[in-house]
Amino acid sequence: MNSSSPKSRDGFTSSLGVIAATLGSAIGLGNIWKFPSLTGLNGGAAFLILYVVCTLLVGLPVMIAELAIGRRAKANAITSFQKLAPKQAWWLIGAAGVLSAFLIMAFYSEVAGWVFAYIFKAATGALATTDPKALGQAFGDLIADPVQSLIWQWLVLILVSGILIAGVSKGIESLEKKLMPALFALLLVVIVRSLTLPGAGQGLEFLFKPDFSKVTGATILAAMGLSFFKLSVGMGTMITYGSYFRDDQNIPSTAIRVMLGDVLVSILAGIAIFPAVFSFGFKPDAGPALLFITIPAVFNSIPLGGLFVVVFFVLGAIAATGAMLSIVEVPVAFLNEQLGWSRKKATIATSIALAVVGSTAALSNSALANTKFFDKTFFDLYDFASSNVLLPVGGLAICLFVGWRWGGQEFARELTNRESLGNIRVARLFFGLLKFVTPILVFVVLLNGLGIIKL
Ligand code: TRP
Repeated sequence: MNSSSPKSRDGFTSSLGVIAATLGSAIGLGNIWKFPSLTGLNGGAAFLILYVVCTLLVGLPVMIAELAIGRRAKANAITSFQKLAPKQAWWLIGAAGVLSAFLIMAFYSEVAGWVFAYIFKAATGALATTDPKALGQAFGDLIADPVQSLIWQWLVLILVSGILIAGVSKGIESLEKKLMPALFALLLVVIVRSLTLPGAGQGLEFLFKPDFSKVTGATILAAMGLSFFKLSVGMGTMITYGSYFRDDQNIPSTAIRVMLGDVLVSILAGIAIFPAVFSFGFKPDAGPALLFITIPAVFNSIPLGGLFVVVFFVLGAIAATGAMLSIVEVPVAFLNEQLGWSRKKATIATSIALAVVGSTAALSNSALANTKFFDKTFFDLYDFASSNVLLPVGGLAICLFVGWRWGGQEFARELTNRESLGNIRVARLFFGLLKFVTPILVFVVLLNGLGIIKL
């Protein structure tokens, strides 16, 4: 292990900074793009309830486990396991996480590219219509254009690299401290407009009145996958961020606050989007295109609406950026610490690799539209495989590591800040979940959702 602990390791400098950066990782396209489209596809409120249950029993415990591992080891996702379980194969969890980071970023950076593109399209009046057909066409044209797809993706990668090169405290933390409050403020503006639309009530009913008749094994797996994706767990992001936490940071209370903030933003995004969907006579199950068609349609129907469209996509861009910083930080921290590369070199190398892998997702609606595996384009494959396979498997492995290898004593020591916090019962509760409940749930939901067992 060379240079695995540089003289003074960069990290988050204040408690507020920790919350802003961690919340910045959790809140992302998952809230405004994935959550509404999955909720719409899976029948509304019933899906929302499943998702919240999965968040409490699966996402949150795994998040706490990852933060604890990272802070104890004070290292990147791979080295952390090598430190806590020397000479054993557990580091493979971290290695799998680094690979997952590439697959997630491949499609994530593309959707982020569309969001950035929409800021400019809205600002230049290119989306100034309320006609769903015309908006559908505009979105279709964008994603089917290989040149625009690649360029927007690369611009996103360059932006993220620039922030990462600035560092953990000077880049990620200081930026997120400014962006998170802005995001909440912008979201509130959008919601007020959406709730005052005629027919808003129908959208709220869809979001809050459950109909369990549409729930299948695949629905439950999608809800669980979303709970991993939302809290950025199952691939080492929270291990890496945990390694930047200060020793006096209260891990469980930070995780709970981030979880609550994140669920709140998803629900608020649902409140912003579904009333609009129904008010304009769209179908809620439009899938990934939902966001890019409904939002312009809604706002363009009011005076100064074009401005609201710009506001909404700026909000999306803020959310996506914080999340991407945390995904790309996983390989960057590894290359930086384990191989001793400078942050700059590590970030540039990672971004170039991301551009290569990402291009297969960017071209999934044009040049590679007919290249399919398991009946899915690269884009859909990365999206499906990461949330529904890689993150759950990674999360399961983390549960097994904490529950059966690292052990309750060490885990509790980390959660109680060496018995100084008086929260030993919280630590015991989460340890019990991680040892028995979460792994079994993940295992069963995974096999059932993939059709390997039938319940
Ligand atoms: N949580 C982010 C979102 O909802 C995405 C994200 C960031 C992520 N880091 C991650 C997903 C790590 C999985 C793993 O948009």
